[in-house]
Amino acid sequence: MGEHGLTLPPFFAELVPVVERELESRLSLPGAPPRLVEAMRYAVLGGGKRLRPVMTLLACRLVSGEIVPALPAAAALEMIHAYSLVHDDLPSMDDDDMRRGRPTTHRRFGEAMAILTGDALQTLAFRTLADTDADDGRLSDMLRTLSESAGAGGMVGGQVLDIDGSASDAGELDALHSAKTGALFRAAVALGATAGGASEEDLARLDEYASSFGIVFQISDDLLDVEGDPQKTGRYRGSDSDAGRSTYPAILGVAESRSRMHDALEKGIDCLSDYGSGADELGDLLRFAAYREG
Ligand code: IPE
Ligand code: IPE
Ligand code: MG
Ligand code: MG
Ligand code: MG
Repeated sequence: MGEHGLTLPPFFAELVPVVERELESRLSLPGAPPRLVEAMRYAVLGGGKRLRPVMTLLACRLVSGEIVPALPAAAALEMIHAYSLVHDDLPSMDDDDMRRGRPTTHRRFGEAMAILTGDALQTLAFRTLADTDADDGRLSDMLRTLSESAGAGGMVGGQVLDIDGSASDAGELDALHSAKTGALFRAAVALGATAGGASEEDLARLDEYASSFGIVFQISDDLLDVEGDPQKTGRYRGSDSDAGRSTYPAILGVAESRSRMHDALEKGIDCLSDYGSGADELGDLLRFAAYREG
């Protein structure tokens, strides 16, 4: 399948179970309607690569040597991501029936429940982030980061540009995707680094890495829709083109998309050079984002 085929870097085996445990405990919600909790757990716990929370933990470890300070942030961000997927798949949006190799949340629980599941996950994310053990200044920075990246100027705004369908050249596509997908990756790094007590200089450098990551990730997502193996992507192939979506291959062609992805990959790796081998894990995460199979 083209250039896809990189396997998971080893730190996933260490960090994904940590993320899963944190999510699992946050999604035990006595007092909430059981059907809602079931749908929230279905949306969050049913697979997923956990790229964003792993990135949060790696950024924290890079600046502080620890992951624990970033655990609530990592879980919070994955909840926002999961909610965004539940709503993205709805009939009024992408109208997708399959995600992560299973029926989408609205196919399984009905449309109204899927909307409410997304709503509840979004508020639970902020509730979770509030448990961060950091001084007040850093916690309010993190709350601002999460809400701005998820909101009108970030992911939701990008979704609006996407459904408008008006992007017609590479510059407009980059703007759309830097909001739709890039904002949450930038938040992943900023949240982890802030939880770890990063300097302004670290934050700026890592933010550039995350911006490149977002471009690499979205081009690869679009390429997988064209040439990925449905067994591994958990989606039908060609669902983007069937739906006439603004994707890199649709606007630039496959070859040009791939070369743009390589440029962004190199740029992202360059941003890490000051850290030497300390940033190898973030470098491997970026390479994985480019060449993953699903
Ligand atoms: C898919 O994200 C949605 C986009 C932002 C393009 P992921 O590929 O990270 O999805 P999961 O969480 O691993 O299923
Ligand atoms: C979804 O982008 C991104 C968000 C939910 C913000 P896509 O529509 O490309 O994601 P997939 O391909 O359905 O996972
Ligand atoms: Mg979409
Ligand atoms: Mg979609
Ligand atoms: Mg896609």
